[in-house]
Amino acid sequence: MEASTRPSVIIGNWKMHKTIEEAKQFVESLLANFKPHGVTAGLAVPYTVIYPLAQLTKGSPLLIGGQNMNDAREGAFTGEIAGSMLKDAGAQFVIIGHSERRRLYHEDDLTINHKLLRAVEAKLQPILCVGETQVEHDEGKAREVIERQLVEGLKGLNENQLASLIIAYEPVWAISGGHHAHSAMPEKAEEIHDFCRQVLSKLFSESFARRVTIQYGGSVTPANAHHLLAQPNIDGLLIGGASLSLDSFNEIVNDTYTKRQ
Ligand code: PGA
Repeated sequence: MEASTRPSVIIGNWKMHKTIEEAKQFVESLLANFKPHGVTAGLAVPYTVIYPLAQLTKGSPLLIGGQNMNDAREGAFTGEIAGSMLKDAGAQFVIIGHSERRRLYHEDDLTINHKLLRAVEAKLQPILCVGETQVEHDEGKAREVIERQLVEGLKGLNENQLASLIIAYEPVWAISGGHHAHSAMPEKAEEIHDFCRQVLSKLFSESFARRVTIQYGGSVTPANAHHLLAQPNIDGLLIGGASLSLDSFNEIVNDTYTKRQ
């Protein structure tokens, strides 16, 4: 499916890294030299730094978001955090269903679907992560798995509720930290992105599918960002490791060639 005018969205996912002081220094330096021409950039950060960074980035084009949230509005859930609390702290978006949450914390599609609903209620922009594991990839089941994650994850939600939805395709085998992780070939990733759009088109409408920003994630670096974004259906990047270093994140955000201007 061909491109329309989708914004390029580049998000760094810091995972469990950075203290308040480290985070503030990073963002201060980033903003000092920030020229994201035609791209939207943001950082998904640990809970403890959402508030200080939201204060620091007020009025700037850098978005601050969370990496996870609970699927209930509030209640006796020790150690958990609600979407409304992220919003209250200043988060604008939230990652939902990251493969580390699915794999290490046993989040299933139903839980992820409930989280998405709560994120929408809290007026947080949701980034829904989908992607196949190495085994599923080797067995040729990538499409089947991704279709299920999209169908189940988006169940019960309509186009209006999902107006700000971002999908992140992150092949689990490509995420750094895994054995021999390496980025997917841009052409291969493009095929899956196109497939995601076809699924969205079946679930909702073709015009909706055309509007949704679909990011790629998994071992993105300044060296491969260009090639990935050059694909017609790759509209943005979700960057883990390379977003922890100011130089590499800056390079990707500031030098990324601007799509569809
Ligand atoms: P990576 O992580 O860029 O370090 O591979 C991506 C992610 O897990 O979102």
